[in-house]
Amino acid sequence: MSSKILVTYATRAGSTRGVAEAVGKTLADGGALVDVLPMQAVEDLASYRAVVVGSAIQGQQWLPEAMQFVQKNQALLAQKPAAMFTVCMTLAMRNGEKYRPEIMKWVAPVQRLARPLSEEIFAGALDISKVPSFGNRLKFRLSVLFGVWAAGDHRDWEAIHAWTGELHSQLQ
Ligand SMILES: Cc1cc2nc3c(=O)[nH]c(=O)nc-3n(C[C@H](O)[C@H](O)[C@H](O)COP(=O)(O)O)c2cc1C
Repeated sequence: MSSKILVTYATRAGSTRGVAEAVGKTLADGGALVDVLPMQAVEDLASYRAVVVGSAIQGQQWLPEAMQFVQKNQALLAQKPAAMFTVCMTLAMRNGEKYRPEIMKWVAPVQRLARPLSEEIFAGALDISKVPSFGNRLKFRLSVLFGVWAAGDHRDWEAIHAWTGELHSQLQ
């Protein structure tokens, strides 16, 4: 087994990739050897000594490929220090922190499979022009219009950095 940590992610519009890259950079700055890869590019999970798995939320769930990744690799993940993070817009709402328990319920199916050492939720980004379906674009435009969600990039780099800093020692 190599001494590398894998940070792997599932994204649709790229904001979760940005979070994964920031997690990878913080781990690397702390001295770890790190690969940051989209889930479909992971070929040899067994060779990593620790794994960080992250997914965007759509429809109050992890993306399907992220769930499949955790299901398929459940046994391997159980043998390694593992952590997970979730990226969504609900945390970026006004008083978003109060929805944390609700968001944790969306993540519960993953927790049951992977039992991570550490897990975190981060606010994401909403670029309505990148949403593929007309119906969803309309829904999100209305939710922005009514002040439910604010479009734009809400990623909190300080929070991401702080979580990863603590994670580094947990993954040793
Ligand atoms: C079709 C769609 C459904 C979404 N559903 C939710 C949701 O149920 N709850 C939530 O908090 N955010 C939801 N979001 C917001 C995304 O989780 C957020 O924009 C995230 O940053 C996207 O990550 P990505 O850029 O890596 O794809 C949704 C976004 C899209 C496009």
